Order: sequence, then C-alpha cells, then structure tokens
Amino acid sequence: MKTEFYQITDPAACPAAIERVASLLRQGEVAAIPTETVYGLAGSAFSADAVKKIFEAKGRPQDNPLIVHISDLEMLPTVAGRIPEDAYKLAKAFWPGPLTVILPKKDTVPAVVSAGLDTVAVRFPSHPVAAAIIRAAGLPLAAPSANLSGFPSPTEAQHVIDDLTGRVAAIVDGGPCGFGIESTVVTLAGETPRLLRPGVITREQLEEVLGKTVEIDPAVLSPLQDGQAAASPGMKYKHYAPNAKLTVIKGGLTAFLTYVNAHPDDADHVLCFEEEAPVMPLPCVTMGRRADPLTQTRRLFDALRELDADGAKRVFARAPEPVGIGLGVCNRLYRAAGFTFAEMPGVGRVIGVCGGSGSGKSTVCERLRDMGCVWIDTDAVAREIVQPGSPVLPRLQAAFGADILRPDGSLDRALLAQRAFADAETSKTLSAITHPAIVGIVKERMAPLLEAGKTVLIDAPLLFTSGLSHICDLTVKVTAPEAERVRRIMQRDGISQEAALRRIRAQAQEDALSDAADLIIENDDLAELEGKAENILKVSK
Ligand code: TXA
Ligand code: MG
Repeated sequence: MKTEFYQITDPAACPAAIERVASLLRQGEVAAIPTETVYGLAGSAFSADAVKKIFEAKGRPQDNPLIVHISDLEMLPTVAGRIPEDAYKLAKAFWPGPLTVILPKKDTVPAVVSAGLDTVAVRFPSHPVAAAIIRAAGLPLAAPSANLSGFPSPTEAQHVIDDLTGRVAAIVDGGPCGFGIESTVVTLAGETPRLLRPGVITREQLEEVLGKTVEIDPAVLSPLQDGQAAASPGMKYKHYAPNAKLTVIKGGLTAFLTYVNAHPDDADHVLCFEEEAPVMPLPCVTMGRRADPLTQTRRLFDALRELDADGAKRVFARAPEPVGIGLGVCNRLYRAAGFTFAEMPGVGRVIGVCGGSGSGKSTVCERLRDMGCVWIDTDAVAREIVQPGSPVLPRLQAAFGADILRPDGSLDRALLAQRAFADAETSKTLSAITHPAIVGIVKERMAPLLEAGKTVLIDAPLLFTSGLSHICDLTVKVTAPEAERVRRIMQRDGISQEAALRRIRAQAQEDALSDAADLIIENDDLAELEGKAENILKVSK
C-alpha cells in the first residue's frame, strides 16, 4: 500500500491536508494521527471494515478493544448508551484531554471496536490536529496507539513511519507528543469507578472531581494471575517491551547504587533519573529529573527505544514512587520489565538539605536530627580538610602561593580567600581542589551509616555546586523571601543590611542550581518549618 505523508502543526494553515486525511477516513481507510498522548492509528468507529484494517496494520489481537475519539461532547451519545452524571463531571473537568472513560456501548458502534464487550472506551483529545481531523471527518474515530502490537507506543512521527509505512493509507506528522504516555483509562460501567490504566490525569484528580474513591485495578501494578480475567484486555499483553531485558530495582537511589555495585555482571546499562547520571557505574539512559514526572512520561518510551539503539541487553531501572503521575510511569516501566523486580532491603538513604544564609536550613536540619536522621555537617568537614597535615594544603599552595600557609603550618584563611575569590577562574580552581576532598570524606562517613540502614542528613550550603546532590535520595532546598533572609541574618549576626545582602548575593550560583531540588520548602515563618520537616521524611520513604 502506498502511504501518504502530511506534516501539520497548525490545522488552520493546512485545510487541504486535513480534508484529504478526513476523506480517506470517511472512505474507510486508516491513518496515523498525532494526539497529546501518543500517536494513534485512526479509522471510522462506525465501520467494522475500517476497524479490521487497524487490527491488521498493527498485528493486534482482536480481543483487545479500541478507544473511540470524539471532537465534541455532542458526539458522546452517538457511541455511548447510558451516560451517568459522573461521566459529565469528568468530561467537564478533563476534556478535551488525556482521559478515556468507559461507558455502556451503543449498537451504532460495531462489536469489533470493543472486541465484543458491551462497553465502549471514549476519549476527547485536546491535540489540535487530532481534533481538526475528527471534526472534518464528521465521525468518531477508533484509534489504538500507532505502534506494531507489543512495542513501545510512538511519541514521534518517525516511530510511526518506521513501524507502519506501507501498512496504512496516511501518516500525519504533528511533531512530538506532549505527554508521551497513553491516556488515563477509567471505567464508569461498574458499581464504582475503577482506574484501568494510569496516565497524566491522576487517580487523585479523578477522586477529587468525583468526590469518591476510585479503585485501582489490580492489573495496573501487577501481572494478571492465571485464569484471572482482565478488566481492560490490553493489560493481558506484554506491552511497551524493548528488546533489552529490564529489571526494576525498587527503593531509592542509595538502594539502587548498592544493588548495582553488588551485581556488577548482571547488567550492561541503567535507566535512571537525569540528576543521577553522574554517579552511575554503567552507561545510562535518563528519563527526566526525579521531581519532574511530566518529563518522565514524555521521555519514557523514547528512553526504552534509546536503550535498544545503544545495544543494551540487560538493564537495571530506577522507578518513581507509584503515586500521582508516578503511578502511570511505574505501570509502563513494570510492564516493560515484564514485572521483573529486585531490591536491596535494609539500606539507608541520604537526604541533602541546602539553603543560603537565613533561609531556615538549620531549623529544618535540627528537626530532622530530632526525628532520628544522622547529621553530617559538611561545613565542619570543609574546615577539617584544611587542618595542618591535610593533603589538600600542598595543592592549595601550588595553586595560590606557598605563603597561604603560616610558618606553623596553619592556613591563612584571609589570604586564601583574597586570592581564591579574586575572579571566577580562581574560585573555580579552589572548588576543584576542595570539593572532591569534601565529597570524599562525606562519602566515607556515610558508607557505614547507610549499610546500617540509617537515614543520613547532609547539610551542605554547596550541595549542588559540590556535586554532593548526585548521591542524595532526596534533595531539599529551604528558601525564604530575600527581605526575610536579610532580617534573620542581621538579627542573628548583628551585621548591616548591606553586608547581609552581600552574603546572600555571594551564594547566587548555588541558589540558582538548587532550584532543581526534588523538594523546595518556602517559608517566611521559622515555626511553620517544623511540620514541613516531617513531610520531608515522608517524601523520602
Ligand atoms: O492515549 C491514548 O489513549 C491513545 C491515543 C492514540 O488516544 N490510545 C491508546 O489506545 O492508547 P490503545 O488501544 O493502545 O489502548 C487502549 C486501552 C487498552 O488497554 C484496552 O484494553 C482498553 O484501553 N480498552 C478499550 N476499550 C475498553 C473497554 N471497553 N473496556 C475495558 N478496556 C478497554
Ligand atoms: Mg497501545
């Protein structure tokens, strides 16, 4: 079959292409189209023949039902029978958008669309190209993800072109998909709402809008047991599978690193979060920052494809906590791993706390210490490494002059500061000498504590600039409005407003870098920090 290609980012600018694709769809052909989740392979939801073509092009088992896409709430009653109030509540809150709702099916929709079920899955996509094509076709469109069955869902036109050229009538390139994982699927066909497939619309959001509990189907996070029927037939199949064999290591970064180091021959690659790449002992592919679930969803399938392109055979993978959007990421990752897990129980974790002068960092750290964390004070370590006899001193002398040491071997801090902070270059030289020494000692002290299962707290004004942040299970930035910080510093240290401001400005680099922390705690009242510290321990579990 000859496949027609169209590139459409702005539907208003390409009316002819939209109309051509719509007319192919009206004639019962199938076309791959972009949506805000993943690319879909669309055909008329009213035509059994078109739907059969979809199954054939994908090589998809016919017992796996399709989602019907609409471009208007008024299309809903043309495909769904009884529409409960809850469906309208969800539609109002989340449509158009990445949510699929399962409702009783109308007979207008041929059985093959729903693989013989008496329900139909409906979604109203927000992608302007998808919306324009459905509207122009004047039909609801059945569309599964536009990949060959069993492979990762396509998030870019190129993936579709690789899989389906020659198998479909048209492919529309609308650029990369914004969300990158498929829509959330919730069924309203049973007694209580139930989440069948997690996505970027979270269970927590659904519960808030519906004002009631949304159950999670067991197939979301575990394999179906023999003989168990799937509420969502798609859950039966090994899905999203890369060629590489994936093992998900449960727990935090410390447990992950301990596991990887204890099994050096069992993997050739790791799949991890972006900020963790510098400490990984194996070649790695990253899936966004730890605290950025929307990048994780967007990156996930690409990351799986990259592992294959890199020739990965066995991969150890990190996973987020299975809550919020993280539930969707875990669902796809666990499936990609065929539910293969490993863990390193009993290993401790590292919480890194940073925050400039007057931010309230010390208050947070004191509270965490009271709650049982073992506190390593990196300021004290920084002073230790310049004590007489330290191997760091000769290196400082080589860089900044022999006379920075006094005759008795002690460091003339004022002279070192004067030379080291002369310009950006010399400051860098100082960091290049001192930071690795500090990090080395901190790691050495942490190792036995972590082995004993302790939660280690590293309090470092230079958590990010020193690179210590890379080994933290959780990084926390404590911050307060500048005026409040100035007030606290002046009161605490009895210095002028100008001097306090200078001190804050000198920390600008760390301040900017630390915006990437997993958790940012803002405060203008030290008392309120107590409760927030408890939250840190919860988050880092
Ligand atoms: O984001 C998405 O939903 C994408 C884009 C293209 O819209 N579509 C998509 O379709 O992911 P597909 O076919 O790859 O996944 C549909 C899922 C499957 O797990 C299927 O079993 C489930 O929805 N499903 C469809 N109809 C159902 C029904 N009547 N009852 C239960 N599950 C259903
Ligand atoms: Mg699919």
